[in-house]
Amino acid sequence: MRFSGRKVLVLGGNSGIGLACAEAFAREGGAVRLTGRDRGTIAAAVASVPGARGDSVDISDLAAMERFYEQVAAEDGRIDVLVVNAGMGGFAPIDQLSPDYWDQVHAINLRGCVFAMQKAVRLMGEGGAIVVTGSIGGHAFVPGNLAYGAAKAGLALAMRQFAGEYVSQGIRVNMVSPGPVETPLLRRNPGMSDEVVGAMRAQMIEAVPMKRMGRAEEVAAAVLFLASPEASFITAANLFVDGGALEIG
Ligand SMILES: NC(=O)c1ccc[n+]([C@@H]2O[C@H](COP(=O)([O-])OP(=O)(O)OC[C@H]3O[C@@H](n4cnc5c(N)ncnc54)[C@H](OP(=O)(O)O)[C@@H]3O)[C@@H](O)[C@H]2O)c1
Repeated sequence: MRFSGRKVLVLGGNSGIGLACAEAFAREGGAVRLTGRDRGTIAAAVASVPGARGDSVDISDLAAMERFYEQVAAEDGRIDVLVVNAGMGGFAPIDQLSPDYWDQVHAINLRGCVFAMQKAVRLMGEGGAIVVTGSIGGHAFVPGNLAYGAAKAGLALAMRQFAGEYVSQGIRVNMVSPGPVETPLLRRNPGMSDEVVGAMRAQMIEAVPMKRMGRAEEVAAAVLFLASPEASFITAANLFVDGGALEIG
């Protein structure tokens, strides 16, 4: 019960890794509030995560996020743990990379996440913890990954900046960077057939020394560790949960 009495906000908590985090925080006593866009999966998450509340708010819509935090401030008063997990995927080889796709990825995965942290941190205090979801794609060559990888690399830098600027307020900021994880993300790539998704999945597994995809629960375990008092002397760390892909792949 590491999160008993703690108010936990999971941005992007209605699917995949975020949902696994929401479930794990609730199991350990956290009062979970989660966001996403899709009202159906938010309702399902709220129904399955004990005590959770959910809100539909697009992280790239900064005005909507401002209104959301006003509601959080009024209803909850504070945030103890923030998980910045919302993100979209997608691949585009360099010659097919469009400015619109670049802007869409960066509006969510970098700009949206950065301003979501900026607004949330005002509701946090001594002992607060932020965990951001990065990706090995922000640190290594992955074919077709320029837009996504650049946004995640930027997010890793943002994590360090927040860690440095808020350390004096007793707020720790860390990142968990997964390798390939079995979630709905891969199947959300627009215009990709099942065959292409299957081939990409096989290619990803081949690049992982452990020769398998990760599970959302394995990433959640790392998020909970970094958010917990066990990690009290850890800030600005980037924990890779990737079956060894980055270092020995
Ligand atoms: N799966 C992997 O292999 C992998 C590897 C490395 C890093 N990651 C990162 O892990 C995080 C979670 O991804 P996942 O694999 O669990 O995929 P997922 O199941 O597709 O989850 C993505 C989450 O982000 C939310 N989201 C996306 N765009 C949003 C927006 N504009 N506003 C608010 N919420 C938004 C989604 O909510 P809606 O469904 O309502 O849009 C959903 O909750 C992402 O940051 C991703 O980049 C994943």
